[in-house]
Amino acid sequence: MAPEIMKGLKDVYLDTTESSFIDGQEGKLLYRGYNIHDLAEKSTFEEVIYLLLYGNLPSKEQLAEFDVHLKANRRIPDEVIQVLELVKNSHPMDALRTGISAMSAFDPEVTDNSVDATIRKGIRLTAMGPTIVAAHHRLRQGLEPVAPNPDLNHAGNFLYMLFGEVPDQETTNLLDVDFILHAEHGANASAFGARVAASTISDLHSAVVTGVGVLKGPAHGGAAEEVMKMALEIGQPENAEEYCRNILDNGGRIMGFGHRVYKAEDPRARHLRDRSRALGEKLGEPRWFQILNYVEEEVMVRYRSRGIFVNVDFFAGSIYYLLDIPDDLFISIFALGRIPGWTLQCAEQYDDNILIRPLLEYSGEMDLEYVPIEQR
Ligand code: CMC
Repeated sequence: MAPEIMKGLKDVYLDTTESSFIDGQEGKLLYRGYNIHDLAEKSTFEEVIYLLLYGNLPSKEQLAEFDVHLKANRRIPDEVIQVLELVKNSHPMDALRTGISAMSAFDPEVTDNSVDATIRKGIRLTAMGPTIVAAHHRLRQGLEPVAPNPDLNHAGNFLYMLFGEVPDQETTNLLDVDFILHAEHGANASAFGARVAASTISDLHSAVVTGVGVLKGPAHGGAAEEVMKMALEIGQPENAEEYCRNILDNGGRIMGFGHRVYKAEDPRARHLRDRSRALGEKLGEPRWFQILNYVEEEVMVRYRSRGIFVNVDFFAGSIYYLLDIPDDLFISIFALGRIPGWTLQCAEQYDDNILIRPLLEYSGEMDLEYVPIEQR
C-alpha cells in the first residue's frame, strides 16, 4: 500500500515545545504563554530575549544584569570584520550567514551542545548579530564599521552602527517592536531547518547558519522586501487594483499575504500596520501606507473567505523603507529578531533529541541495467 504523503509536512506535529503557541484559526500568538499584543505594546526586545531563553519574565535586577551581558557581547573580532570585507559584495543575508559561521572559530563553547551552553551561545549570537549586519553594510559602501555604543539598547545600537548616527527614541522603539514581533514562531521553516541541524547534534552556530539560509527565501523571510518592491512599482493607490489583478489572474501571489498556519489575520501584522500608517503620516509620506491599505482592503479582501490575510511581512517593508533602510537588509532584520527563537528551539531539540529524518517515497525507475559509457 502506498504510504500517505504529508507534502510540505503540512499539519504534521513533529514534537512538543514550550517556546510559542499559535492558534491559526483565531490569529493568536503567545511567547512562553505571554500574548504577543502585550509584549509588542509593553515589553522590550531585551526582555523578550530573556523570556524566551530563560522561560520567565525577568525582575528589574535580572533584566539590568542581562542587558549588561548582552552589551558586553556586541563586539565581533577583527578577523570576522576581515571576512566580511572579503564578502562585502554578497547579499546581506549571505554575509550574515558567513559572519555567524566565522564566529564559530572564536566561540570557546562552540562544540558544547549542552542546553546551558546553547543558551549562552545564543545570547552571544543575538548580541553580535546586529554588529555583523551593520559592519557588512558599512564595508560594502566603502565605510569603516561603527563600534557598538553601550549607551544604546539593542535596536538603537543596530541603527547607530548601520547609519553612524544615534537614532531618535521613536525610531528605536519601532525597530524594538519589530524585533519583538519576529522573535519566535513555532515550527516555521527556518526554525525547522535549525532543529534538523541540531537533531544531528551539530552545534548551534551550524543550526543558526541553517536558519539564516532557510529564512532567506521569498516564501519565508524574503516577503517584506518583495512587498516594498511591489508598492514602489504600483506607485499610486489608484494603480493597485490593476497591478494586483495582473498578478492574481496569472496565478501569481501577492507577497505579504497568506500563511501556512494563520487562516485569520496574523496577530503580528496589526502592530506594524498601525506603525506604518503613523510613520508615513509623520514623515509626510502617507502614499506607501495608502497603497498597502488599498491592496489589503480593496483587492485582497476577496481572499479572506479562503483564509488568506496579511502576514507579518506585509507592513514591515514600508516601515524599513521609511527609515531609509535599504531593501536588501529587510530579511536580515527578520533574522536578527529570530536568533533567540532559533536558539530556544535548538536547546529544546538537544534536551530531548531524536534525529529528524523523515522518508521520501521513491517515484523513479527501478532496476535499470547499467550500460558502460562506451556503449551509450
Ligand atoms: N496571494 C494569492 N494567493 C495565495 C497567496 C497569496 N499571497 N498565498 C496563498 N495563496 C493561495 C494559493 O494560490 C493557493 O491557492 P489554490 O488552492 O487555488 O492553489 C492557496 O492559497 C493555498 O496556498 P498554499 O501555497 O498551498 O499555502 P501554503 O500554506 O503552502 O503557503 C505561503 C503559505 C506563506 C507560502 C503562501 O501564502 C505565500 O506564498 N505567501 C506569499 C509569501 C509570503 O508572504 N510569505 C511570508 C510568510 S509570513 C512570514 C514568515 O513567517 O515566514
